[in-house]
Amino acid sequence: MFNDAMRLGGALPPRPEERGLRAGIQVKPAIIVADGLEKTFSRGRGARARVTQAVRPLSFTVEEGEFIGLLGPNGAGKSTTIKMMTGILHPSGGSIQVDGLSPQRDRVALALRLGVVFGQRTQLWWDLPLIESYRLLRVMYRVTPTDYRARLQRMADWLDLPAFWSTPVRQLSLGQRMRGELAAALLHRPRILVLDEPTIGLDVTAKAEVRTFLREENAQEGTTVVLTTHDMADVEELCSRLLVIHEGTKMFDGTVGELQARVGAQSALQVMFRAVPDWSRSELPDGVERTLLEGGRGAFLQYNRDTLSPADILMGIRHVGEVDDFRMEEPRLESIMRSLYETLGSSS
Ligand SMILES: Nc1ncnc2c1ncn2[C@@H]1O[C@H](COP(=O)(O)OP(=O)(O)OP(=O)(O)O)[C@@H](O)[C@H]1O
Ligand SMILES: [Mg+2]
Repeated sequence: MFNDAMRLGGALPPRPEERGLRAGIQVKPAIIVADGLEKTFSRGRGARARVTQAVRPLSFTVEEGEFIGLLGPNGAGKSTTIKMMTGILHPSGGSIQVDGLSPQRDRVALALRLGVVFGQRTQLWWDLPLIESYRLLRVMYRVTPTDYRARLQRMADWLDLPAFWSTPVRQLSLGQRMRGELAAALLHRPRILVLDEPTIGLDVTAKAEVRTFLREENAQEGTTVVLTTHDMADVEELCSRLLVIHEGTKMFDGTVGELQARVGAQSALQVMFRAVPDWSRSELPDGVERTLLEGGRGAFLQYNRDTLSPADILMGIRHVGEVDDFRMEEPRLESIMRSLYETLGSSS
C-alpha cells in the first residue's frame, strides 16, 4: 500500500469546493463508475485448474458525497470489487473509473485522492508508535505542516487518538488500531474513502465512535464513502444507498426503504413466554421466520404483512407455551437482508 504513496509526486489535488467548476452544479457528478466490471481468478493449471468468477459483469455508479453500503453474503465479490476500485487488482473485463482516473493505470495519482481501510489488514507501521506513522504519512502524501496539524487535531479529538498514539501499533487494542487506521486513511483529506469491514471485531462503544466519526467526515468534508460491512447497524446508521451484490453481480441498488419493499412488506412480533416454550407444538404458517431471544424464552417472529396478520401468528403459537407479553416490532435491516439472502440462495 505504501509503495504507491512513496512514489507519489506533486501536490495534493484541489478539494471539491476549490474546484470552481463544481460549485453550483445541482446534479452531482458520478465519482465512481463501474461498467461491466469482471474479475476471474484461476488456481492451478490444466485439467486441475479451478476458475472462480468473483465479479461478473457488474455496473454501478457512486455519486460525489454519497455514503454507500456495498453489501452481500460471504464470497459475493465485495472485497474483490473494492480491490479493483483501489487498483490492487486488475479487472479481467469491463472498466472502473474513480474520480475520473483508472485505478490501475493512474494508481499513484489516485492514491492522493483515495483513503482505504481494510479491517483485516493494517496500513500502519507495526513497530512504531502510532503518531510516527502519521509523521511518515504526512511526508509521503506531501501534506503541508499546517494542513497536517489541523487535520490531525480534528481527528485526534474525534477519535481520542492522544490516549494511545505514543504506543507502538502492535500493542494497540483492535478498537484503538481501527481508530488509528481511519485517521491514517484520512490524513491527506482524500475525496473518496473506501472501507472494507472497518468495524469488524469492535465492541459496541468503539463501533459507535467509528460510526459517528464517519458520519461527520461524510457530512462536513463531503467525502464520498464506500463501506463494506456485515453489521447492519452500520448500514442503518450510515448508508444513504445500498448496493447488494451476489455471485459477483448486482442484485439491488436503492435505499433501505426500497429494499424493504422489494423483499416484501415485513412485520415482526416479539413474543415472551412464561417459560421456555415447546416449538414442536408450533402451528405457525409457512414463511414465518423465527429468531429465539433470551435463552429461548422469547422469540422474534417475522412475517409478511400482506399475507398474514398478528392474529395468525398468535394462533400459530397458542400450543407452544403461555404467552407472557408480545409487541409489534419494525423489522430490522438485519432480518430484511436475511430474507433477501435466502431468496438469493434459493434462486441460485
Ligand atoms: N486471490 C484470490 N484467488 C482466488 N479466488 C479468490 C481470490 N480472492 C477472492 N477469491 C474468490 O472470489 C470470490 C469473491 O471473494 P471476495 O473476497 O470478493 O468476497 P466478499 O464479498 O468480500 O466476501 P466476505 O463477505 O466473506 O468478505 C470468492 O469465491 C473467493 O473465494
Ligand atoms: Mg470481503
